[in-house]
Amino acid sequence: MSFVTPQHIAIIMDGNGRWAKARGLPRTAGHRQGIEATKRVVRASRDMGISYLTLFGFSAENWSRPKDEVQELMGLLRMYLQMETKTLHQDGVRLRMIGDRDGLDRDIVTLIEKAEALTRDNTALHLTIALNYGGRQEITQAAYAMAQDCVAAGQMPDKAAFAAAFPAKLLTPDLPEPDILVRSSGEQRISNFLLWQCAYAEFVFSPVLWPDFDRDHLAAVIGEFAKRDRRFGAVK
Ligand code: IPE
Ligand code: IPE
Ligand code: MG
Repeated sequence: MSFVTPQHIAIIMDGNGRWAKARGLPRTAGHRQGIEATKRVVRASRDMGISYLTLFGFSAENWSRPKDEVQELMGLLRMYLQMETKTLHQDGVRLRMIGDRDGLDRDIVTLIEKAEALTRDNTALHLTIALNYGGRQEITQAAYAMAQDCVAAGQMPDKAAFAAAFPAKLLTPDLPEPDILVRSSGEQRISNFLLWQCAYAEFVFSPVLWPDFDRDHLAAVIGEFAKRDRRFGAVK
């Protein structure tokens, strides 16, 4: 394995529907297999020494899918939290959720809160799941929170102080920025995921449909990362 292990991998888990369609199955069958891939990749990340894994599970725009598909996705999420929290805890995984909780069913929010509380002291892998999440919404709410602080203080900070305080208002103040943004299924777009945080992420697009994604595909992503030359705007 490469010596340049990334600290933080973010993944847009895409291609469940096409995986099912190719087999003549309903899209929901693809989502069910997608959960199995998610479990594999979480375990593999931990085994490979990745410290932070952030997964796009449901976008703020995914509500516009057919009602029964949304219901199935929420049902799978509920099941994942019920069945996996204990295993994640045993594996030393800290689970957190980013996104707008207000849009989620109350019982799902309760499961998330319980999992977050149970696993809060774990350090083997920081697993963050983005649910009802949108990058633009995140940036807008951060700007709103900054504005509220200004109103409360009765004055504007200077520009440098404003810029320094801004990232703490995002949903990810205690996560390092992703080193890699992976998207499965061959699509090459960001779809409103971690817009701010991916400013200098290396993008890796995999043709593999998410339900087929496994440990070897993750290793290939890490191998690809090792070949990249990151400059962050500077000259070497
Ligand atoms: C990703 O697979 C799962 C979610 C977005 C929730 P898709 O359902 O987007 O699968 P495709 O893109 O239609 O193949
Ligand atoms: C992005 O995938 C959201 C998740 C993977 C959860 P989509 O399948 O919803 O994105 P678009 O619609 O193809 O851009
Ligand atoms: Mg998709």
